Amino acid sequence: MFPRINPTTTQAWLLLKKHHQEEMQRTQMNTLFQQDKERFNSFSLRFKDILFDYSKNIITPKTVQLLQQLAKECNVKEAIEAMFTGEIINETENRQVLHTALRNFSGNPVMVAGKDVMPDVQKVLAQMKSFCAEIHNGNWKGYSGKPIKYIVNIGIGGSDLGPLMVTEALKPYWVKGIQTYFVSNVDGTHIAETLKKVTADETLFLIASKTFTTQETMTNALTARSWFLATAKDEAHVAKHFAALSTNEKAVKEFGIDTKNMFEFWDWVGGRYSLWSAIGLSIALTIGYNNFEEILQGAYAVDTYFRTESFDKNIPVLMALLGVWYTNFYGSQTEAILPYDQYMHRFAAYFQQGNMESNGKYVDRNGDEVHYATGPVIWGEPGTNGQHAFYQLIHQGTVLIPCDFIAPAISHNPIGDHHVKLLSNFFAQTEALMTGKGETEVKAELEKAGKTTEEIKKLLPFKVFQGNRPTNSFMIKSITPDVLGSLIAMYEHKIFVQGVIWNIFSFDQWGVELGKQLANKILPELENDVNIESHDSSTNGLINAFKAFRKG
Ligand code: F6P
Repeated sequence: MFPRINPTTTQAWLLLKKHHQEEMQRTQMNTLFQQDKERFNSFSLRFKDILFDYSKNIITPKTVQLLQQLAKECNVKEAIEAMFTGEIINETENRQVLHTALRNFSGNPVMVAGKDVMPDVQKVLAQMKSFCAEIHNGNWKGYSGKPIKYIVNIGIGGSDLGPLMVTEALKPYWVKGIQTYFVSNVDGTHIAETLKKVTADETLFLIASKTFTTQETMTNALTARSWFLATAKDEAHVAKHFAALSTNEKAVKEFGIDTKNMFEFWDWVGGRYSLWSAIGLSIALTIGYNNFEEILQGAYAVDTYFRTESFDKNIPVLMALLGVWYTNFYGSQTEAILPYDQYMHRFAAYFQQGNMESNGKYVDRNGDEVHYATGPVIWGEPGTNGQHAFYQLIHQGTVLIPCDFIAPAISHNPIGDHHVKLLSNFFAQTEALMTGKGETEVKAELEKAGKTTEEIKKLLPFKVFQGNRPTNSFMIKSITPDVLGSLIAMYEHKIFVQGVIWNIFSFDQWGVELGKQLANKILPELENDVNIESHDSSTNGLINAFKAFRKG
């Protein structure tokens, strides 16, 4: 059975608490760097073209050793094996968690209920490959005889964020002549604005939904279908313009999509871990199947490394442990992901779902309420825009925000000195966050600027930076499909390890259900003129105001 250990009852937790209070609370990273000239070498790791520097954290070798002890006492190793070997670790949904099988190039079987799932995985990959070839070589024609030029992925959450993030991150790899759009929001504006950009006879709609019941996706899909038929006129043309990516064959048929155009995946693939599955068809169609497979290969390489590497050299494990260190011992509540790569502009949004839908839970695996913090708020924007928006608070605010900085050494757009300027900011920010700026330095600067003693006294407190703000840096050779696959897998496994330590079920998402249920109850109330009194006075008041505004 999956471990059920309250982390606060472990010996490591108590030792970490003591270590934090007695040794680390007042420790300055500056001092640690002065004391140990080899700190970067001790606290950085290389995985192929990814360098992970975690030396700018408020840690000593003892911290790392105790955090590893915590992972051991929480049976992280056993939990990793349980996931990879197909144990039912998503217990509340009675499912395995096997997104790793979707990128398993080992040749070894992966068993689910006594059956090897790999032949089915490979079958769907082969189907995706030949479909991509048909679309890209122009053999697949729309109803007017023209090839497909536009891909519109209609999906939400895990059926949208992953493909959107990856296609944006890998824009330099886009297949010539293909333009891809993503529609997710049930707000009619999203689909309306997208449909303005495409032509019915050259568009392929991918209806991406694990369940094929999600309100937003089904509503957008029906709108797309009506829009398409308004031009195409004939229902028979739907077959050339609509494909389904789903686990629900019955619902796909009912919607009117030919199951020949269905790309299947399985209930052991979590929605927010599904970009590796048929949900990735929009990726493969946008950047080419071979590049899609490179992403899978990159993730597979990390899977093997994550499963076999000792914790002290294991990047995803260390990422997770550092997160636990700040969340549970420093009381930090949020983490920022800051890519210094414009193409990666949706990376933080993608892992916002990855982390927050996975580990945003207050009930542990025993069904008891936890009395320690679990999943942090994840947020972020690409550098340098963030610097001119919210970095002020990271530098001088009252809350501790651990940040991940991510940057490629080689830009896909080497124009003039843009990239060195970008990277000078990347290096400067983590250095500034760590070193800060003390009173003496500020004073000397003000004196040099000719300020009077009185002026200096007045300005001094505002210009001091305490520093000691922790960061991880990912220095990456270049953002290629393979590297991106590896990076995503690292962040996925970080979430997994944290969920194991926090003793929560990371692969269900019951917390999104209540809002959905209430919306379904409210919807019919919006479709009549009756004054609503069935809710609390605020909800009644808002609904009735909405109706009154619409009446005019
Ligand atoms: O928001 C809840 C959720 O179930 C996510 O977990 C999922 O990624 C999303 O909705 C979309 O679900 P589906 O792929 O079934 O349409």
